[in-house]
Parts: sequence; structure tokens; C-alpha cells
Amino acid sequence: MPEFIMASTFFPQDIIIRKRDGGALTKDEITFFARGVVDGTFADYQATALLMAIFWRGMTAQETAWLTDAMLHSGEVIDLRDIPDAKVDKHSTGGVGDKVSLILAPLAAACGLKVPMMSGRGLGHTGGTLDKLEAIPGFKVQLTVPEFRAILQKVGCAMIGQTPQVVPADRKLYSLRDVTGTVECIPLICASIMSKKLAEGIDSLVLDVKFGKGAFMKSKERALELARAMVETGRAAGKPVLAQLTAMNQPLGRAAGHTTEVIESIECLKGRGPADLMEVTFALTGHMLVLGGVAKDRKEAQAKMDTAIANGSALQKFREMCTAQGGDPRVVDDYKILPTAKKLIAVKAPANAKGFVSEVDALKCGHAIMALGGGRASVSDKIDHAVGLAELIKIGEAVSPSTLLCTLHSNDDAKAARADVSAIASVKAEALIREAIKFTPTPPKLEPLIQDLIQ
Ligand code: URA
Repeated sequence: MPEFIMASTFFPQDIIIRKRDGGALTKDEITFFARGVVDGTFADYQATALLMAIFWRGMTAQETAWLTDAMLHSGEVIDLRDIPDAKVDKHSTGGVGDKVSLILAPLAAACGLKVPMMSGRGLGHTGGTLDKLEAIPGFKVQLTVPEFRAILQKVGCAMIGQTPQVVPADRKLYSLRDVTGTVECIPLICASIMSKKLAEGIDSLVLDVKFGKGAFMKSKERALELARAMVETGRAAGKPVLAQLTAMNQPLGRAAGHTTEVIESIECLKGRGPADLMEVTFALTGHMLVLGGVAKDRKEAQAKMDTAIANGSALQKFREMCTAQGGDPRVVDDYKILPTAKKLIAVKAPANAKGFVSEVDALKCGHAIMALGGGRASVSDKIDHAVGLAELIKIGEAVSPSTLLCTLHSNDDAKAARADVSAIASVKAEALIREAIKFTPTPPKLEPLIQDLIQ
């Protein structure tokens, strides 16, 4: 039967009722839905009713795979088959201080992969890769698909925002979910993430699914469920997908914000990265190198990554990507080129502090960055790239009176007399950091950072 006749035989209300009553939808019904939200045949009020029905009733793995496929084909699917080398990407469900993409993309490119990365902006307490890149003067993240392809081919990695032509169904559905309490639904999250990643034209994908205080998924069980759903959906689309489960109770690395994270990322590429950040970066990049066939196993992958950092080729890829995307490559050697905060405030341990750090609450750290003006409460908010946290202490480290807990990079004018001192941004941020960091007299048990691998 021709497709247009098939599509016109459905009524949105029948589809909503079947899902409301716990039934499974057919491939054609799901395709009708994904197309309908873009062309208007499925009205917003009907789409939100169906989203809420899916939220409560769930979707089978088969329905989720069909939804992903229908969303993927609601717009342009980038075809990179003419570009040689394996095209492998990484996606993280996000957290505080998660700047892995900025290190991983040039590192993987230096090791022989092509990394076509379409990323998002930060919302709420978690930062976004595009915002971090935009801290680099001139760096353009809104490129056309031909520009993206050209940079990918020449440099080996390109990091851009979603183009309007890619997965328009997700743009529509995500905006409806955001205002109707239907974001936290595993089949919908899975279809949203996987449709966008598959639209990049990748051969394979590595996922970093975070769980804990600073993550979207608070519990490990829910993170595992999402990881399994995404790996299965990738398999249904014929692409090898592997998911790593990573704890996100404390921020990753010692910096969080934009300028501060760009600096920490460049330091990593110079071989001076903090241990936790390098552990996650090496694990994810290592999986990419094996999936992409440029290393036979993780051991060989590690040797390649060590060489790319030691001989400067990963750092050089970062420079080349900056240049290709309009950014100032001198940033690599001169951090003063980045937006700089007016004030650095040292937050020190109190006079009675003795023992070890037992907690650095990532959510509260994220809220401290927001208080400084470095986060968005809503998508249209402007952010200050210069503000953030640096030199953040880590769980397990020893403290005594005056140990540095963190440096706040602030742009507020605390001198301006205000009746309510607690309303001053840096005062609020410092209070949040002090709430975030807890001490214990004996060394705490450290939880492993990488906790599972789903493949
Ligand atoms: N990120 C996405 O891209 N989609 C979701 O649904 C949730 C997080």
C-alpha cells in the first residue's frame, strides 16, 4: 500500500487510547506519530497525551527501536560513507565538570578515527559541550553539514550543534516533554539520544551513562536500564554500541564552568590531567579505538593514546579543530585569551577542619556555578563563560585548617553595597560549596568511578 494511504488511515486518538490502555503500538502507528508531530497531523495536545501514556505504560524494545528509527528519518541523515576511516562518536548523559568530549575528540582523531560530534548546550546544573567550546574566542559551533563534513575529513574531528534539518521530531518532542513532565522516561530518552547520534552518520558509538547526585539519572539501576535500552536500540539499527556506567557524585576533574573546563581539557592534552578525568577519558576513547578497529584491544589502545599525548599530536588536533572552526588556536599556549573572571575567591577549610573529604556534592557544585552566572535555568538564558570553579578538592583528600577547597572565579561586584549580602552571587556560591563539601575523621571508602560496561 502506498505510504500516504497507509498514513491517512490512522487517527491520533486511537493510538493514544491503545497506549493509554497498555497496548503495544505498531511500526506504522509510531511512524505516523513521529512524522505527524513535524507536519502537524499529530496536534501538540495529542502528542503530549501520547507522551504521557508512554511515560506511564512504557514501550517494548521493539517499539523503542521503531520510534528511534522514525525520529531519525524525520529529517536529514548525514551520509559519511565517502569519508575514509571509521566514524565513531561518544555521547555522555552529562554531569558536572564532564569535559571529556573536549579531550576525547582530538585524542581519538590523533589515533586515527574520525569523530563526527554533534553536542548540546547546558541546561540546569549540568554544563554543555557547545557552551564550553564557545568560551574559545571565535569558535563557531553552528556549522552547515558541508562545513562539518569538510572539517571532519581534514582534521579528523568536528564538534558542532545540531543543525535544524537533523531529527526535527526530537526538537518538537523534547520541547513538549520539557513542559509536560515527560522527560524522565527511558524509552523516550533512549529514542531522543539515539536518533540524534545515528543521524550523524556514525559507524559505532560509545556511551557514558552517568548516575549519582550530579547526573540526570540518580540511581545506578535506572542508569543501567537506560544503558541497556540504548545498546539494544543501537544493535537494532545495525550499529555497534557500548555503554559505560560512571559515578557522578562528585564533579569530574577539578574544574567546572566554561573557561575553567577548557583550561583543564588542554592541560589533559598536555599530559597534566587529573587522575579521575583521565581515567574516564582513556576508558571511553579506548573503547572507541577498539570499536573503530584502530586498536586490537584496550592495551594497544592505551599505548596509542599515551603516544598521542606524549608526542603532542592530540594537542595539535585540538589546535587544528580550533582553527578550522574559527577559534583562536593560541588558546593552547595562552589561557589569558579566554574570558577571565574579575575576581578569584579562595574557599578554604574552616579553622576546626581535620581529617578527609568524604563528599563533594556535584549537584550543589552545579548550583554554585549557576549562582555565579555560569548556567542556564531556561534555554534562552545567557551564560557567563568566565565564571566557575577551579582547584576543587576531591573525595579522600586530607584537610586541615585553611586547606584550599576550591577557587571561585566570579564576576560579581561584591563591593556594591546591598542590603542582603546573601544575595551576592559569590556569597551564594561560596555557601553552596561549603554545603557541598563534607569531612570525616578517617579516610572514606572510595567508590569506583567506572562501575559497569554494557555491550
Ligand atoms: N538528552 C537528550 O538528548 N534527550 C533526552 O530525552 C534526555 C537527555
